[in-house]
Amino acid sequence: MRYLVTGAAGFIGSHLYEALISRDHEVLPLDCLTPYYAPECKLRNAAKVGATITQRDLASEPLDDLLEGIDGIFHLAGQPGVRQSWGDDLAPYLRHNLLATERLATAAAARGTRLVFSSSSSVYGSAKQYPTPENAATRPVSPYGVTKLACEHLLAAHSDQQALDAVVLRYFTVYGPRQRPDMAFSRLLGALHAGRTFRMFGNGEATRSFTYVTDVVAATIEAMEKAAPGSLYNVGGGTEASLREVVDIVQEITGMKLDVEHCEPVSGDVVRTAADISKISREIGWIPAVDLRDGLIAQWEELGPATELHGDLGIEGPGARR
Ligand SMILES: NC(=O)c1ccc[n+]([C@@H]2O[C@H](COP(=O)([O-])OP(=O)(O)OC[C@H]3O[C@@H](n4cnc5c(N)ncnc54)[C@H](O)[C@@H]3O)[C@@H](O)[C@H]2O)c1
Repeated sequence: MRYLVTGAAGFIGSHLYEALISRDHEVLPLDCLTPYYAPECKLRNAAKVGATITQRDLASEPLDDLLEGIDGIFHLAGQPGVRQSWGDDLAPYLRHNLLATERLATAAAARGTRLVFSSSSSVYGSAKQYPTPENAATRPVSPYGVTKLACEHLLAAHSDQQALDAVVLRYFTVYGPRQRPDMAFSRLLGALHAGRTFRMFGNGEATRSFTYVTDVVAATIEAMEKAAPGSLYNVGGGTEASLREVVDIVQEITGMKLDVEHCEPVSGDVVRTAADISKISREIGWIPAVDLRDGLIAQWEELGPATELHGDLGIEGPGARR
């Protein structure tokens, strides 16, 4: 098959590109390298997986020629993160989530091309029910979550009016190598690796259905290949854990002590996410395969040998790494 991957230089998109190529598909990797985090970091992601990125902004540049000969679109491009989506900072969320999705959906519907969209558990907000099933009420508590939910509604409108074949996946906190630098594990492991203090937002008791990136990628490909048009699925890891528990696991894996500074909780962060994945496992046979400890080891190992700085901080030195 020949697929378009939008957001291919990003964290999840670069893994998806790699997985599709390894399955002998042809892939057009697209990204416009937004400045949400360093474009150099995104170019490194692309280089690691051998992707030559087609640089195009879905929110403003022509799209129709891109879809020529494309059998399916994986739409991962977007402006992520709840923390920075309030007030005037909403503008890039409107552009890279709403406008980009609207334009891509219009082009996909015109060509009859299937589109799999990466939505987010943040559409649930502070859910009333845990684990949360897909038919739970959606009440996002961040502007980011509002834009992801609005994207889902845009796709539904195109499906209704123009027979767009769209599938929506609600990812629950994704981690693993190449994780975005603003995300908790990335900051936590980076701080430990460099011997810096980790700033923990809130008391660390908030829990998440952490989901390893290759599991998310597998669910995304399965959805493209097997889901019925209009399907909506949660994609969440099997283990729910708090950040405090994650710190314990990381310290045990590395044999090093993390210096933690507690900061005010972030507006828009919920205290719990827990995915009910019975629907996706029943209908397309996906279940997560990587447990939290193994996934954390893989993300830690990406950073390479720790420096001597750890001697100042650690219980044991870098030699304690396994
Ligand atoms: N990482 C998670 O835990 C998580 C959880 C839920 C949902 N998601 C969603 O999954 C998708 C991928 O997330 P990620 O963590 O890999 O983020 P990411 O920021 O690493 O990747 C997104 C990529 O999209 C590109 N992009 C943004 N706007 C674009 C535009 N207008 N045209 C072309 N490219 C554009 C960016 O440059 C970036 O490289 C996002 O839509 C995000 O909202 C991620």
